[in-house]
Amino acid sequence: MLDQDIKKVLISHEEIVAAAEKLGQTLTQEYQDKNPIFVGILKGSIPFMAELINHVDAHLETDYMAVSSYQGGTASTGELTVVKDLTADIENRHVVIIEDIIDSGLTLDVLKRMFLERKPASLKIVTLLDKPEGRQVEIDADYSCFTIPNEFVVGFGLDYQENYRNLPYIGILKEEVYQ
Ligand code: IMP
Ligand code: MG
Repeated sequence: MLDQDIKKVLISHEEIVAAAEKLGQTLTQEYQDKNPIFVGILKGSIPFMAELINHVDAHLETDYMAVSSYQGGTASTGELTVVKDLTADIENRHVVIIEDIIDSGLTLDVLKRMFLERKPASLKIVTLLDKPEGRQVEIDADYSCFTIPNEFVVGFGLDYQENYRNLPYIGILKEEVYQ
């Protein structure tokens, strides 16, 4: 049913799982014996984070943060409100932020500064998707699974007006859906 709204599948479910497995193995090595906190940024990171942590064979904790960016129009302005804060105290802890996508980089730029103020032992950023052409501030993920062109995508956590997060793959919407 949802498939009918998709013009093109950009990244298949199998490709996402394979990328999560590969990254999970890297993180298993890196965070062995560090008991890191993996922080999912709500809501978009949930499917990716769920897949990723299955492939990390190390002790870790999970936490979540929800932020909303003030939207003057369609692009984010870099002003962030914390809608739901972390439960954990991250001081002296190894923290891994999990994002769905980095586009302008404005969200992550503010988030990163917010996290660093809390003095973690280390801070790394993981993202499922990276749209480097959209960048307005210089910020990059430490680990990115896929680099995509400057197109609006949905699925595997990414939404269009809160819909399509439950698609098991990443796709491009048909134009008529926006109308
Ligand atoms: P940034 O602050 O511009 O890097 O954007 C980050 C947020 O914008 C993401 O967490 C998404 O919620 C949203 N976003 C950016 N590009 C897309 C897209 O192609 N599809 C769905 N959401 C997107
Ligand atoms: Mg969104």
